[in-house]
Amino acid sequence: MHEDIDVVVVGGCGHVGLPLAIVLANTGFNVVALDIDESKISQVNQGILPFVEIDASDALKTAIADKRFIASSDASAITSAKYVVVVVGTPVDEHLNPDPEAIIHVLQDLREYFVQDQLIVLRSTVYPGVTRRVERWFNENVPGLSVAFCPERIAEGKAMEELYSLPQIIGARSDEVFDSASKLFQGTASSLIRSTPEEAELAKLFTNVWRYIKFATVNQFFMMANDFGVDFEKVRHAISTDYPRASDMPSAGFSAGPCLFKDTMQLGAFSNNTFALGHAAMLVNEGLPLYVVEQIEKKFSLEGKTIGILGMAFKANIDDERSSLSYKLRKILMFRGEEVLCSDPYVNDARLVSIEEIQARADVIVIGTPHDVYKNLEFKVPVFDLWNMSGNGVLI
Ligand SMILES: NC(=O)c1ccc[n+]([C@@H]2O[C@H](COP(=O)([O-])OP(=O)(O)OC[C@H]3O[C@@H](n4cnc5c(N)ncnc54)[C@H](O)[C@@H]3O)[C@@H](O)[C@H]2O)c1
Repeated sequence: MHEDIDVVVVGGCGHVGLPLAIVLANTGFNVVALDIDESKISQVNQGILPFVEIDASDALKTAIADKRFIASSDASAITSAKYVVVVVGTPVDEHLNPDPEAIIHVLQDLREYFVQDQLIVLRSTVYPGVTRRVERWFNENVPGLSVAFCPERIAEGKAMEELYSLPQIIGARSDEVFDSASKLFQGTASSLIRSTPEEAELAKLFTNVWRYIKFATVNQFFMMANDFGVDFEKVRHAISTDYPRASDMPSAGFSAGPCLFKDTMQLGAFSNNTFALGHAAMLVNEGLPLYVVEQIEKKFSLEGKTIGILGMAFKANIDDERSSLSYKLRKILMFRGEEVLCSDPYVNDARLVSIEEIQARADVIVIGTPHDVYKNLEFKVPVFDLWNMSGNGVLI
């Protein structure tokens, strides 16, 4: 396939890169998913997904069978491609600082493979100004390429649906760049929205941070209502029923994962740490596990107790445990109780135990992640459920 490559996705075996690479292959492009993780590459080439992504498995097998898709660590594939999509991770560091050079470092390693007339599509969520920085880097190092910023806005677990159903924002500085990027996405996205790269960079960050603040708002409401002895789910029902202006009010719950928190911190750094609303949202969302433990301790002493946590992924029905607040909860409980047993049907972690072991041994149980499989379980011990899995409300 090497001479006929249309698209190389750098970070192509990741949570965002792989679904995109599969979907582009199934719309007719010849795609190489370039990655540095050999074990993921090997899995993917055997048609095995390295993570849970609904409906992606068959689509991957189709793309491989049609010979339109291959995963590889051979970066020379870039030289034959028309489009190079960059979608590597852009985490904040241990001091919550973003790394505006993360993308440049990846490009530097690949420098010898870029050729004139390619379109570089940045798709990672980036610190504002990174597209301009990348354009400058190419001008100085490999002139004659174009750059667009086309953010990914899917939610994990919904990629195969949302890559088709969501509009694609295309941050382009010229008609030529917009037209070229449009050709990449026109077979998938529901519509195309043109903006400048800077507008697109902010659009992506604001999208995530808006969501994070919404979750923080309901989490704070939940704590207020709970402290007042009121079930927040009943309040939410009263607010949102047949009332369009609040119909999208989310329920309370652990709000975490690899994107919302770190993108809020990216925006905090971007605004010279004057983003009071973002930092307040972080305190509320990150404080929720502590609040839950406090509520448990008002009812039981945890000393000498075995506590079970059901669900370790950062959200329901997926296996991604990155930045999951269930792990923060585990850490807090390990300090307060005798033993903490954790379970998750999807997460790959040797420390986890079965649901049955938790049912048999735990003195108290906390639902960390509302996986559907927990819906009809019966428990003989108290269960702290801020997700309303039982349908009995969220007063804890
Ligand atoms: N996960 C999401 O739901 C989501 C949604 C929208 C946007 N994003 C953004 O997308 C970006 C990627 O996130 P992700 O969750 O897919 O991360 P990920 O860690 O799952 O995937 C990144 C992939 O890049 C590979 N990689 C790292 N360095 C590389 C290199 N030098 N060359 C080739 N491959 C390399 C890794 O091995 C990994 O497979 C981030 O900027 C994130 O903020 C993520």
